[in-house]
Amino acid sequence: MKTRITEMLGIEHPIVQGGMHFVGFAELAAAVSNAGGLGIITGLTQKTPELLAKEIARCREMTDKPFGVNLTFLPTFATPPYPEYIQAIIEGGVRAVETAGRNPEAYMAQMKAAGIKVIHKCTSVRHSLKAEAIGCDAVSVDGFECGGHPGEDDVPNFILLPRAAEELKIPFIASGGMADGRSLVGALALGAEGINMGTRFMATKEAPIHENVKKAIVAASELDTRLIMRKLRNTERVLNNSGVDRLLQIEREKGDALKIDDIVDQVAGIYPKVMIDGDMEAGAWSCGMVAGLIHDIPSCKELVDRIMSQADEIINKRLAGMSRG
Ligand SMILES: Cc1cc2nc3c(=O)[nH]c(=O)nc-3n(C[C@H](O)[C@H](O)[C@H](O)COP(=O)(O)O)c2cc1C
Repeated sequence: MKTRITEMLGIEHPIVQGGMHFVGFAELAAAVSNAGGLGIITGLTQKTPELLAKEIARCREMTDKPFGVNLTFLPTFATPPYPEYIQAIIEGGVRAVETAGRNPEAYMAQMKAAGIKVIHKCTSVRHSLKAEAIGCDAVSVDGFECGGHPGEDDVPNFILLPRAAEELKIPFIASGGMADGRSLVGALALGAEGINMGTRFMATKEAPIHENVKKAIVAASELDTRLIMRKLRNTERVLNNSGVDRLLQIEREKGDALKIDDIVDQVAGIYPKVMIDGDMEAGAWSCGMVAGLIHDIPSCKELVDRIMSQADEIINKRLAGMSRG
């Protein structure tokens, strides 16, 4: 399949793996890229730019296909040394960066001078237009159903994607709720040039996370995610567990007076406990509603091949048949 995104990124299939904290290590990124999609290493999971450089080198040993790095611009007290992270990306020969969180404008010149394709992930049409205006090459449009931070507008992809198509000139990728060939064809029909998947890629053989996490995703239904931190305007969609129950109880009790310190035990330092130790009750970790569509743990290649053959079947048999009457 050829789209503006496959052409831009030099990949075979229009399928991207979104950056995921403590999930997007070299093993997963390489497996997705070897399957013909674009794998992405999560930059800030590597504690220093030097460690990111090593992770990029490790990924390069596992694949000769293009892969990218995610850089998330968070509202933190101690700002990570982003220019040094970007330098590691450039020196590692990486040609695509997924930015997310805050506006990446301050770092665009450094990335564009090195010829990097910048895909900014955002949750609204207005932020997508801003990304286009500051020179991003593409955007990933993350609908309300997505795992992680869906923003505060609560617009699901059936509205958000065609709205993005109405306004944007640069190509965009549909993100949030994508799982299979049906998602891909639906996203293309709504104007996207490809799909970005997070949660679905966690439940794969190569995802370097504890088996408990993969099994929890397979066991979960579309009803099992919760939205946390709404009052802090830092909404996150997470899989429900007893830690999240406690967190939501505190949120209810505190109401408008809620501060991040009130819930820090359920949100800080949780990722290694879940992803490495497999402690499924530890607290909040991002997970999409798409868990309801995830029923197995295939290899990345099996998954990508299945998506592409299902998409082909839908386009050339089901839809073509309907269109012929
Ligand atoms: C466990 C997990 C961790 C994530 N961490 C990040 C992150 O560090 N930076 C980021 O930009 N997006 C992060 N995301 C969001 C994904 O890149 C992607 O946008 C999202 O998962 C898409 O929705 P889906 O899960 O429905 O596919 C994370 C998602 C998950 C599930």
